[in-house]
Amino acid sequence: MMGFVGLKLLFIGVVFFLCLSSCYSQFNPADKYSIDCGSPSNTTIGNRVFLSDSLASSFLSTPQNVLVDTSANSIPSSEYSPLYKTARIFTQTSTYTFRITQSGRHWIRLYFFPFSASNYNLTTAVFSVSTPDHSLLSDFKAESVQTKEYSVNVTSGDLEITFTPTGSSFAFLNGLEVVSVPDPLIPDDAMSVNPPTNFKGMLNKALETLARVNMGGPVVTSRNDSLWRSWVTDLSYSKNRNFESNVSNPTAVRYPPDGATQDDAPVSVYGTAATMASENDPKANFNVTWEFPVDRGFQYLVRLHFCDIVSTSANTLYFNVYIDDSNVLPDYDLSTKFGGSLAMASYSDFVTQSLNKNQIRISIGPSSIKDVNPNAILNGVEIMKLSNSDGSLSGGNIPSSNSSSKKSIGLIIGVVVGVLVAILAGVIFFCVYKKRKQEQLNQSKIWIPLSTNGISQTMGSKYSNGTTISAGSNFNYRCPFAAIQEATNNFDESWVIGIGGFGKVYKGVLSDGTKVAVKRGNPKSQQGLAEFQTEIEMLSQFRHRHLVSLIGYCDEKSEMILIYEYMENGTLKSHLYGSGFPSMSWKQRLEICIGAARGLHYLHTGYSKAVIHRDVKSANILLDENLMAKVADFGLSKTGPEIDQTHVSTAVKGSFGYLDPEYFRRQQLTEKSDVYSFGVVLFEVLCARPVIDPSLPREMVNLAEWAMKWQKKGQLEQIIDVTLKGKIRADSLRKFGETAEKCLSDFGVDRPSMGDVLWNLEYVLQLQEAVLQNDPDENSTNVIGELSPVIHDFNRGGDGGGDGAAQFEMSSGDDISGVSMSKVFSQLVKSEGR
Ligand SMILES: *[C@@H]1O[C@H](CO)[C@@H](O)[C@H](O)[C@H]1NC(C)=O
Ligand SMILES: *[C@@H]1O[C@H](CO)[C@@H](O)[C@H](O)[C@H]1NC(C)=O
Ligand SMILES: *[C@@H]1O[C@H](CO)[C@@H](O)[C@H](O)[C@H]1NC(C)=O
Ligand SMILES: *[C@@H]1O[C@H](CO)[C@@H](O)[C@H](O)[C@H]1NC(C)=O
Ligand SMILES: *[C@@H]1O[C@H](CO)[C@@H](O)[C@H](O)[C@H]1NC(C)=O
Ligand SMILES: *[C@@H]1O[C@H](CO)[C@@H](O)[C@H](O)[C@H]1NC(C)=O
Repeated sequence: MMGFVGLKLLFIGVVFFLCLSSCYSQFNPADKYSIDCGSPSNTTIGNRVFLSDSLASSFLSTPQNVLVDTSANSIPSSEYSPLYKTARIFTQTSTYTFRITQSGRHWIRLYFFPFSASNYNLTTAVFSVSTPDHSLLSDFKAESVQTKEYSVNVTSGDLEITFTPTGSSFAFLNGLEVVSVPDPLIPDDAMSVNPPTNFKGMLNKALETLARVNMGGPVVTSRNDSLWRSWVTDLSYSKNRNFESNVSNPTAVRYPPDGATQDDAPVSVYGTAATMASENDPKANFNVTWEFPVDRGFQYLVRLHFCDIVSTSANTLYFNVYIDDSNVLPDYDLSTKFGGSLAMASYSDFVTQSLNKNQIRISIGPSSIKDVNPNAILNGVEIMKLSNSDGSLSGGNIPSSNSSSKKSIGLIIGVVVGVLVAILAGVIFFCVYKKRKQEQLNQSKIWIPLSTNGISQTMGSKYSNGTTISAGSNFNYRCPFAAIQEATNNFDESWVIGIGGFGKVYKGVLSDGTKVAVKRGNPKSQQGLAEFQTEIEMLSQFRHRHLVSLIGYCDEKSEMILIYEYMENGTLKSHLYGSGFPSMSWKQRLEICIGAARGLHYLHTGYSKAVIHRDVKSANILLDENLMAKVADFGLSKTGPEIDQTHVSTAVKGSFGYLDPEYFRRQQLTEKSDVYSFGVVLFEVLCARPVIDPSLPREMVNLAEWAMKWQKKGQLEQIIDVTLKGKIRADSLRKFGETAEKCLSDFGVDRPSMGDVLWNLEYVLQLQEAVLQNDPDENSTNVIGELSPVIHDFNRGGDGGGDGAAQFEMSSGDDISGVSMSKVFSQLVKSEGR
């Protein structure tokens, strides 16, 4: 019998050991000290041995040795309970000194349980804790069980931690830990919340962990965390539990090479999440909010952990994440970040300031993108206080209770009066506002839905009622011809902003002041009719912030009129060359490319059937007043292979210079044809020249060929837009060139998906952004410096001829790059008219 039990124990021991060695093999801290203060024996917690105080005395210099134990106290249950049985008392200033073998960030964990021992009542202790560079706690009173965790960068050979009693009080400690932190865990930079800039300089800060929360999941103990961290539940931070629901799917979690690692947070954290308790209600629109108490006057690192364990397919979860009132991750789509893969662990870092509030509020809520079920997700939150300019982490609370009673009465009266005035003002404002709003609504009832069931409704135009016209699968906002006549000053020729094969594009102003672009087709064109219908059909199914929205249409009296949101800044093309707009920075260009890539990615993946745009070019990427890119002109779009089984379309369509040679050769249409065209746009953005320019020497005529030649030589910098010279970081240019090159692969199968392109462009932007933070002297070595003037060696590299493109040289003169091969629906807006 004994033998059997022994064997069983041995077996358990072996299993335990195997588990430990496999679970924790990655983390092998160079420095680790764990001490169970006041304890006569070692204490084991998980796979850590907290050294008996008697063995730890060599680390401590103290004038007096006082050890106490809890005797009568009931010890709160926690994984650290064994540490709470005993404590060490410091009656005078005392210092622990630990030899640090590897410099870098180290965690200092202090465990406190204020119990009442025979001659010391620990709840009465008041004391300070510091390292030579940082004040960690000052005049601290431990009122309940707590663990304080700090991380400090130790560069000298020793780490000293000093306990100083305040006045005639004393200090105490139940447990102490010093452990190396893996270097990559805390990077130097993060996104600053307000203003949204890049924060740099975290490496020089000491941090204090204020919250480490497993959102929507259970407590995760240090045993389940490779870095011995504990994660609490979000229960005590949640503002309204009814709005929140829990999900758990730990087996789905994956750690991608470019995302988070097991050290950033364990599977137990990424595998559970808080989501909206919306029960798939398509109208749900609320935030799930948590509030974290902090000390005011400090900056905080907020690390948000995400892993989409709820979606079943890509691009079905878009949400907003707010820190206080800032939308820090608008329309966040986790699947896009990882090329369409789900359940990829990742985190985002933000630095926020808490100047005059004692809390940081974090909310998640649905994005306004219409065609996905509203939901939002958050898997984990860490909030860390950053040391201030004095290196201090302590204090920060502006004393509020000390103010004299007279002062606070004055304050209260002030507040009451203020509130009354505000309420009165609000009531007046509301009445006036409501009246005006009603008037506006009356004026702008111009869209009459094409009713199939005989019920006719009116609704306000896009802006006057504050909502976007919601277009279901059947877009039905037909606009009376008379209203369009009025909006365009009866198709005033001087209001024309573009002309194309299909007809003219006018600027228009609706009765409520909303600007629109009105595309009026030539009534005779049969070809045009098909494209007119395609465009209505496509745009009514697809709503995305990076696709130009259709506001309405008119088919009265055989008119073919489409009404779009007005794009203040015209085409991308016009901002690149030929229109005298100021040159855009590299960052602006990248953001535009990223926006356009998002729009295309959405077309390719956001719907059950992939949609192929077929006419991707810089003239079809429009810019709004903030230079945000939107893809336009869906007249040629086709749904992908699912519908078009043969992959063969009757006529090759598209624009010169952007055409996929494979499509041209084989007339086989796939999403990868758009990727090719987008690759050409990328080079156009970089070089700021037309994609076909017959006035140039033969080998330069076709941009795609010309740029590929230099890209293959690794000398792309020779042909970039002169205004960008010296401004693009070498890494950023290299990655951009590689991305464009891949898009231009001869065969579709070798080209990346639009999601990959998007991801790569975001990376290009990051590479560029990284440099802005460094000091300028350092930059010059990374940036393409003074370049010799471009020497075009026309004899090298041969003919370059090849597919498709060479044939366009036959085409004649004017603005060839904008000309389509068929009588296309025309460019929506042509820059020339502006
Ligand atoms: C406590 O642990 C230390 C280090 O692991 C070891 O050297 C020592 O022998 C242990 N002491 C006891 C009493 O187990
Ligand atoms: C310890 O001090 C606290 C706060 O001063 C007090 O409430 C508590 O009763 C004391 N406990 C004992 C056992 O004296
Ligand atoms: C620690 O500080 C040194 C000197 O400021 C710095 O070079 C190093 O990057 C820092 N290391 C970490 C991990 O913060
Ligand atoms: C969510 O999980 C937490 C931690 O396990 C639990 O306390 C809470 O009751 C759960 N909430 C819901 C709504 O299920
Ligand atoms: C912690 O890990 C153990 C095994 O390693 C596992 O059984 C347990 O479910 C984990 N706990 C949590 C909260 O994930
Ligand atoms: C969510 O919170 C943000 C920030 O406070 C706020 O701007 C937004 O209106 C909220 N959304 C909803 C639906 O309440």
